Amino acid sequence: MERKWWKEAVVYQIYPRSFQDSNGDGIGDLNGIRERLDYLKQLGIDVIWLSPIYQSPNDDNGYDISDYKKVMDEFGTMKDFDDLLKAAHENGIKILLDLVVNHTSDEHPWFLESRKSRENPYRDYYIWKEGKGEGEPPNNWGSCFGGSAWKLDEQTGMYYLHLFSPRQPDLNWENEKVRKEVFEMMDWWCRKGIDGFRMDVISMISKDPALPDGEVKDDLYGDFSPYAVHGPKVHTYLKEMNQKVLSNYDLMTVGETAGVTVEEARKYAGAREHELNMVFHFEHVEGDGELLKWTDKKPDLLRLKRILSRWQEELGDDAWNSLYWDNHDQPRAVSRFGDDSSRYREVSAKMLATCLHMMRGTPYIYQGEELGMTNFPFTELTQFRDIESLNAYKELTGKGLVSHEKMMSYLRCKSRDNARTPMQWDNGPAAGFSKGVPWIPVNPNYSEINAKKELADENSVFHYYRKLIRLRKNYKIIVYGSYQLIMKDDIRIFAYIRNLGTEKLLVLCNFSNEEAELSFPEGFKGEEAECLIYNYDCPPDIRQGRLRPYEAAVYYAEIK
Ligand code: GLC
Ligand code: CA
Repeated sequence: MERKWWKEAVVYQIYPRSFQDSNGDGIGDLNGIRERLDYLKQLGIDVIWLSPIYQSPNDDNGYDISDYKKVMDEFGTMKDFDDLLKAAHENGIKILLDLVVNHTSDEHPWFLESRKSRENPYRDYYIWKEGKGEGEPPNNWGSCFGGSAWKLDEQTGMYYLHLFSPRQPDLNWENEKVRKEVFEMMDWWCRKGIDGFRMDVISMISKDPALPDGEVKDDLYGDFSPYAVHGPKVHTYLKEMNQKVLSNYDLMTVGETAGVTVEEARKYAGAREHELNMVFHFEHVEGDGELLKWTDKKPDLLRLKRILSRWQEELGDDAWNSLYWDNHDQPRAVSRFGDDSSRYREVSAKMLATCLHMMRGTPYIYQGEELGMTNFPFTELTQFRDIESLNAYKELTGKGLVSHEKMMSYLRCKSRDNARTPMQWDNGPAAGFSKGVPWIPVNPNYSEINAKKELADENSVFHYYRKLIRLRKNYKIIVYGSYQLIMKDDIRIFAYIRNLGTEKLLVLCNFSNEEAELSFPEGFKGEEAECLIYNYDCPPDIRQGRLRPYEAAVYYAEIK
């Protein structure tokens, strides 16, 4: 296994809008991030991934870009970005930018030109097609945010494709000029000194040119994924991107690749493929819904173990995993996979962190996760800001598929806004996030859960994350060791062993609110095993062979 800095790194994701507001307009900004670098340094992370900071009309909070070389006015100026990058580097922290090039905003100058006429030089920058007939789009594809994936543009009487909102038209990657523009823009940022990219829905950039109808599920629209996810030329385009841009710099790259299988991931992230360093798979955070992504049930531990272990065991030595429980598109980890009741919140947040950070791969922490921040207790539709949540409510209740009560329950569990409420810094007004009125409500539990309080308490979730990060720096086995699931059929305990040369690591996590019995595996029963970290006031009792509710512990042993 080849050693690389990005394999040994821990990444911290910032959603700039909700991290720290420095000028009181209620919106987080770049100077706010710079003010908080000390906090990140104390946590010990190596890399920041910034969700999009570019000029955007914010139909999808910055994932709809109208100028790739300008900073969003609300977030500051290019000078603020340069200052942030410099300050981060001085603190030994690298910065990844979010690269959103499957689509642009409908306000991007390319699209403004493109829609003007069928002959416009920018026409082929996007995907235009005639309707099938009067009022009928070119095919039945549904967009990720509800409704048809096609929008009729009156001006030229043709439809354009948008796999997300109508204000996010898909770029036409078949067009060599588009690729050239994108690569040039990436190179421009690389020359500024950024350290890599997280690539938004990068698995969707190549579409089957025949654009066939998709299978209709849930009585809604046709599924585009067989024709637009891991499409025919996606690997050709990424190889070209790698050759023209990425390979010229020492970067870290991670692709967002919904629907990716282990086999497909090896093509994106295999070292010999020369595409990306790693990808985000979605198997453990998707496919658990009753209706599309929507559900209000707890995830099933056996399924979770099966999925994560398959990725650990089968991705192989040639590719690399990214590890995450949550991000700006997912609910809060502790509410979803742990237990956010006051009794178990801290202990279960620490247990989840243990389970993830001891695996092989690069761990990602989403802002506030290191405090054990929870989902928001949504009661009203007016509390939501997210286009996906609002559209889904309209579409699913409107069609009579779900009742208001059920949909609210779904949204409380799965809405992306759970992750987007402001970072909880202290127990002052707006949780220390802003001197003004935050763009989205602060979680009412901020006086209980906040950074200031956790920094002062050495047993806090924050300090537990710090310790996990430090362990990763001190034990190569955590980064490079092989992985083996044990107690596969246990319905409460997630346990695995890591191996590297003569070293061994045992990771034990109780995912339930009950005591769980186990027998310690050979080699970890006696004095020879050292407990490196645990989430109660003392390690589990080996002789008793029992884990307390949500208990976690990591044992290290060397075979002499
Ligand atoms: C990705 C982003 C998500 C965004 C979508 C469209 O999935 O993570 O936030 O809405 O792409 O750009
Ligand atoms: Ca601001």
